[in-house]
Amino acid sequence: MGADNIILIGFMGSGKSVIGRRLAKQMKYRFMDTDKIIVDKEGMEIQEIFKKYGEERFRDLESSLLLSMIDNLDRTVLSTGGGMPVRESNVKLLHAMGKIIYLRSSQNAIVNRLSGDTTRPLLEGGNLEEKVEKLLHARAPIYEKAADIIIDTDGKSIDDIVKEIIIIT
Ligand code: S3P
Repeated sequence: MGADNIILIGFMGSGKSVIGRRLAKQMKYRFMDTDKIIVDKEGMEIQEIFKKYGEERFRDLESSLLLSMIDNLDRTVLSTGGGMPVRESNVKLLHAMGKIIYLRSSQNAIVNRLSGDTTRPLLEGGNLEEKVEKLLHARAPIYEKAADIIIDTDGKSIDDIVKEIIIIT
């Protein structure tokens, strides 16, 4: 536990999983992804969990997962679901686990990346741009406050971002 771990936070579609996986490989760290662990544990896709049990239940799963991980992380890059830092108690746990890096992407970049995506229940139906705008507006200050380090990702390749993180951390 502690400073040996890197925690990636940020909006859906900001590249946390892809960047996290590549970063872990280069640093010879373990890679973990909270969404993936929840899906594996529950035996259900995230859309299904939201549909069956609702968002709050998913948030509870996220919080209890973090609690269960806190003493077991070592040299790990942890990618988190976009809503993870919304609960302040989660942010506290993430800080105790390691260095929090916010992968900050612009609204345009996010909309471009997520158009056609069907895996994010919070963006289902209606106008994607409006949904992203509203949620990003609410979330951006939360991500910024939670972060130890902010990396702007627009216009950068995955490799550039990984290099930047390695230099900074
Ligand atoms: C969510 C983000 C998703 C997933 C769930 C809720 C959010 O993860 O946890 O759909 O509230 O922003 P990604 O950020 O990996 O897409």
